[in-house]
Amino acid sequence: MSEQGKLFIVSNRLPVNYNDEAPAGQRLKASSGGLVTGLREIHEQSDSLWIGFLGQLQGQDPELESYLKEHNLVPVHIRPKVYDKYYNGYANGTLWPLFHNFLASMSISDGHWKSYVEANHAFAKAIIDLLSPGDRIWVHDYQLMLLPQILREHQNDLKISYFHHIPFPSSEIFRAIPRRSELINGLLGADYIGFHTYDYARHFIQSAKRVAGAKTKINEIMFQDRPIKVAAHPLGVDFKAFAKTKSLGTRILERLRDSDRITFLGIDRLDYTKGLPERLKSFARFLELYPHFVGKARLIQICVPSRQNIGSYNKIRSQVERLVGKINGEFSRSDYIPVEYIFRSIPQEEVIELYQQADVMVVTPLRDGLNLVAKEYVAARTDGDGCLVLSEFAGAASEMGEALQVNPYDIETVAHTLNHALEMPPKERRERMQALRKRMKEHDNINWAQNFMAMWSQHEMDTRVNSKH
Ligand code: G6P
Repeated sequence: MSEQGKLFIVSNRLPVNYNDEAPAGQRLKASSGGLVTGLREIHEQSDSLWIGFLGQLQGQDPELESYLKEHNLVPVHIRPKVYDKYYNGYANGTLWPLFHNFLASMSISDGHWKSYVEANHAFAKAIIDLLSPGDRIWVHDYQLMLLPQILREHQNDLKISYFHHIPFPSSEIFRAIPRRSELINGLLGADYIGFHTYDYARHFIQSAKRVAGAKTKINEIMFQDRPIKVAAHPLGVDFKAFAKTKSLGTRILERLRDSDRITFLGIDRLDYTKGLPERLKSFARFLELYPHFVGKARLIQICVPSRQNIGSYNKIRSQVERLVGKINGEFSRSDYIPVEYIFRSIPQEEVIELYQQADVMVVTPLRDGLNLVAKEYVAARTDGDGCLVLSEFAGAASEMGEALQVNPYDIETVAHTLNHALEMPPKERRERMQALRKRMKEHDNINWAQNFMAMWSQHEMDTRVNSKH
């Protein structure tokens, strides 16, 4: 993919996670989350080096070393205490809630900030040790917002870009964070900055103007005499991979295939931003409003465990589990459980089959950078059928106008929309799905990366030409 030099892909997580407490042979596990899902194939197809955190390594593991070498993966070493404060403390206790508009949940700690700075320096060191002339560095996500500027200070003519995978809030919200200037200045070390939506890009430009006093245009920021381009690049999915079928014999899938029940499906990392209590309440309200579906329609809700060392994540888990119990207590029959709740991650083949069997996919986050699950569902529907209910607060909503879009806070309307999804004439359902499939196929993850890289190169060329005049 790179014409000159190597491409560094840099993200907090590598696509695999190492757990040295697991038995030998089972220590490496695929990482979850939108970022790695989106980037994995891009990395495999290019000659890039992927720099990221792998887990805490104790001593040597020759098998691991050869795996990393073979897959061009470079682990960054960060001491456990520092990693905890950087990842659980600052990245996910301060930045994550603020960027998702959960201002009141933002925690502030100087110790967490110091570890965030230290961890960003550890990433910089890992890159600098491997850097050759002509290399390009593509930094990813909110865990590494200081890295572009650290690298720029190391070498002023480095080629650096940044992609932000989560929302960027309006400047009114952003300016509530105590280290706002450092964070904005950190990102302004890049030459090219991408967001999933035009709104996030606009919010960022506005924050750069208000917080850093930068001169801004509609899609450009002038900072320390350097033009920085800001653009919207919504990430796509590996369309072909989700279109594959392979029949598996798991218990959930057998139950799905055998029954003539209607299935609503939700698959999410268990996160308070995903609107899970609201979704469960909407489903319960749907059963109340449309009682002929009691005994017929069920919700399969898969929650992938996430960030379990953070209190707010444990709190949301208890809340979800209480609600599941309440709904099942109220609506169950001897042969019917309305909510099937699964708290673990499940393999991709199983996810694909679930997508293919589900009548309605329910993706209703309160706030989400993009949401790849919505796109994966569409990619998996090779039969051209199925219906997507999508929150208007997911970044993906701006490209998925044919989905049934809802305000996830509005329980009553979501309940009616679940009914509408079932009552929609098949012709309309298929037309909506076909339009979505066409768009998702054209804008897949490879197309996303190629576009980003091409626009980044174009910006470099324009800057060079302009600086000569
Ligand atoms: C989101 C973020 C990613 C993150 C993923 C999983 O998609 O944008 O940066 O990797 O969630 O979260 P985790 O904390 O497990 O890496």
